[in-house]
Amino acid sequence: MSDNKKEIDRRRTFGIISHPDAGKTTLTEKLLLFGGAIQQAGAVKGRKAGRYARSDWMAIEKERGISVTTSVMKFNYKDFEVNLLDTPGHQDFSEDTYRVLTAVDSALMVIDNAKGVEHQTEKLMEVCRMRNTPIITFINKLDREGMMPLDILDDIENKLQIECTPLSWPIGMGKRFKGVYNLYEKELHLFTPGQKTKARQGIVINDINDRQLDDILGSQADELRQDIELIEGAADPFELEHFLAGSQTPVFFGSAINNFGVKEMLDAFVEMAPHPGPRAAVTREVSPYEKTFSGFAFKIQANMNPSHRDRIAFIRICSGKFTKGMKAFHNRIGKDVTFSNATIFMANERANVAEAYPGDIIGIYNHGTIKIGDTFSEKESLKFCGIPNFAPEFFKRVILKNPMKIKHLQKGLTQLSEEGVVQVFRPISESGYILGAVGVLQFDITMERLKSEYGVDAIYEHVEYNVARWIESDDPKRLQDFERENIANIAKDAEGSKAYLTTSEWQLGYCMKQWPGIEFYKTREISE
Ligand code: G4P
Repeated sequence: MSDNKKEIDRRRTFGIISHPDAGKTTLTEKLLLFGGAIQQAGAVKGRKAGRYARSDWMAIEKERGISVTTSVMKFNYKDFEVNLLDTPGHQDFSEDTYRVLTAVDSALMVIDNAKGVEHQTEKLMEVCRMRNTPIITFINKLDREGMMPLDILDDIENKLQIECTPLSWPIGMGKRFKGVYNLYEKELHLFTPGQKTKARQGIVINDINDRQLDDILGSQADELRQDIELIEGAADPFELEHFLAGSQTPVFFGSAINNFGVKEMLDAFVEMAPHPGPRAAVTREVSPYEKTFSGFAFKIQANMNPSHRDRIAFIRICSGKFTKGMKAFHNRIGKDVTFSNATIFMANERANVAEAYPGDIIGIYNHGTIKIGDTFSEKESLKFCGIPNFAPEFFKRVILKNPMKIKHLQKGLTQLSEEGVVQVFRPISESGYILGAVGVLQFDITMERLKSEYGVDAIYEHVEYNVARWIESDDPKRLQDFERENIANIAKDAEGSKAYLTTSEWQLGYCMKQWPGIEFYKTREISE
């Protein structure tokens, strides 16, 4: 076991999953305030407001300097060192959003109490389920009217197939919102609208029948008693093991904008959420406590500085200790690389830190030598698993304006797909390229970069596809038959894996019924 144990055990690396407008940005800001990483409310919000209306690449590029530092927000809270990884949403929603979740140890799910579980949350939850990532739930906007708390819990259980266990309970909502009762501390927290500063002390009420409760809450005291009786009878008790296995989510209620219920949630989060754990590689499982360094690239951001066409690879450390200037083995290209120009993301003091531990994220500048899924290690050749490509949901055909530039186009698309900007498919029945993306903004970025970096002038053409699945079968003959009969819908991705592209989920379902024995995958592991 390494001497790094203390550092590893106090690390919490997580991402927020939510649907746009549920309150992710507002909550992030409150978390950073508690962690002392920002001094004033509005800092995070301002960044988003600036980013929100833009969709042209140059504007995005200008923003890069800011957004890259906020891709990882590190802060200290109590004895913990917290890495909050941004999961880009709104227009920035892309495969990166999914992939960030492959680099976290837990997730915080934010739900708008008026809307319940929304589409994007369902999609992000699917990604969490791939690794059974433990999830804490924060139900937001209790200062507004919304669904009844029990109905929200039902909604989560039904749509997300995860058991809910409330650890706090709201007293009323909207105009009648009085606060939350912390069920495990047995503490009452009263709500004061507009409270933007750090949270206050709760009132300890060990016995829910205490008359003090009636003095404070009036007629709502009895409502709370009834609710608590109901949930104590109906809800499953919190079980740390179930939470860590991803089958149960502790639920907190509050209002991010009023900074209410956030501290209670954060206090519970740092205690419950797991520290970095072992991670599967192709040959074996790697423990974070191993002495030798290892890590993998899960995100690449290009053109941070327009005058230097460099890229930054975000590497999640899985074991050992990172020190500035160290050497590590770049497994895919089979060479040692020196991490002399690494950035360590440390909120406000990142330049001064020379060491990083499992759970931390480092940024390595490079000129296209690092691709998503690459593993770096010391002494041993390793390849981490679980950093896949995700099936795109938007498709476009690229039409080259000048056919002489085909080589440039090929090179550009290969590199952009390695960076995870876009996925490239080549239909087997025709020539040409079909691009696939998880978020539509990726098409603008791809086109702009093809032009500025590769000198390619191209346009997009509409295609009818909306769904893609990678296909495999244990029976090669069956796969051949399937491909022959669906030849117009089969394409090879950048690594040569075959995918079935079709118009709708319904069509896919129909095809799957027709073709037992063929496996249809929503993700595909990136190979070396
Ligand atoms: P997002 O990052 O998940 O997209 O959500 P964001 O934090 O931007 O919040 C979306 C909207 O919800 C914002 O309002 C925000 O102020 C509001 N909001 C967040 N938390 C709460 C809450 O606890 N209660 C209430 N009532 N509203 C909340 P907006 O009008 O879109 O933006 P703004 O005008 O406030 O900037």
